[in-house]
Amino acid sequence: MTSTLSPNLARLLEVADRATTDAPVTVTGPLRVGVDLGTAYTVIFVVDESGLPVAGAYRFADVVRDGVVLDYAGAVDLVRRLKSQIEQRIGRGLTTAAVTIPPGVPVSEVRSHGYVVEAAGLECTAIVDEPTAANAVLQVADGAVVDVGGGTTGIAVLRDGEVVATADDPTGGTHLTLVVAGAHGISFEEAELLKRDQRNHARLFPVVRPVLEKIGTLVADRIRGYDVEQIYLVGGTSAFTGIADVVASVTGVPAVVPGAPLFVTPVGVALHDTGGDAG
Ligand SMILES: Nc1ncnc2c1ncn2[C@@H]1O[C@H](COP(=O)(O)OP(=O)(O)OP(=O)(O)O)[C@@H](O)[C@H]1O
Ligand SMILES: [Mg+2]
Repeated sequence: MTSTLSPNLARLLEVADRATTDAPVTVTGPLRVGVDLGTAYTVIFVVDESGLPVAGAYRFADVVRDGVVLDYAGAVDLVRRLKSQIEQRIGRGLTTAAVTIPPGVPVSEVRSHGYVVEAAGLECTAIVDEPTAANAVLQVADGAVVDVGGGTTGIAVLRDGEVVATADDPTGGTHLTLVVAGAHGISFEEAELLKRDQRNHARLFPVVRPVLEKIGTLVADRIRGYDVEQIYLVGGTSAFTGIADVVASVTGVPAVVPGAPLFVTPVGVALHDTGGDAG
C-alpha cells in the first residue's frame, strides 16, 4: 500500500461507501461531473470546487462492451437516470460533464461516448482516456496507471507527470467471471456475484490466477522499454485480493492498489470537466 494517498483518494474511500445511497448532500459552489461508461458499470461522480467527491451513483449495465457503445439508447437512458438520481440528492441540476474513453483509441472512433452524455442532457466538456482520468486522482508523476475494468485493461505510462504511452487490451473482470462460471458449472451472473464478494477471493484465487497472470503479462508487454518503477492498479477488478502480488511478480515491478478501485477513474474524469456550473 502507498502511504501518500492524495486528499481526493482519502475522501474517495469515504464517499464510495455512500455513493449509492439516496441520502441528500448539501453542496455549494461550482460542480464538476464525470461519466465513466464501462463494460460492467456506468458511473457518475460529482466533485466540488476543491475537487473533492461529493456524490456518486453507479449501475451494473450491459450498454458498453470493451469501450464500444453497444446499446446507444440504453446508455443514454442509464446516464439520464444516474444524473437525475444525483440531482435529487444534491438538489441542483447538473449541466456539464467529462466522459471517459478507452486509452489508445483515436477520439474520432469514440465520439459516441460524447454523444451519449450530450443526449442525456449534459454538455460534454472533455473526453479523456480512463487511466489518464484516474491519474487526476492518483497524481502519479512517474510510473504506470493500470485500469483493470470489466472488459479491458487500460494502461497509461507516465514520465515527469506526462502521459508518454497508453494502451488497452481486451482482458478484464469479465474473463475472471467466465473462468469462475466454468470451474463451478454456474451461470455468469452467479459467478459474478460470487467473485465480487471479498470473502470468496482466497478460495477463487487458484481458479482466476491464470487470468490475473495474463493481465500481468499484458502490463509487462505495455511497459517494456519505459523504465517503470511502480504500478498503480485501479478499476473494479483491482478489488480482487492478490491481484497486486500477481502483477508485481509477472512484471517484476512493485504494484499497489491505492484504494477505492471502482471509483478512482470516475472521480478522476470529473476533475477533467471544465464546465463547472455555478449552480
Ligand atoms: N469486490 C470485487 N472483487 C472483484 N471484482 C470486482 C469487485 N467489484 C467489482 N469487480 C469487478 O470489476 C469489474 C468492473 O470494474 P469497472 O467498473 O472498473 O469496469 P468497467 O469500467 O465497467 O469496464 P471497462 O473499463 O473494461 O469498460 C467487473 O468485472 C466486476 O466484476
Ligand atoms: Mg472502466
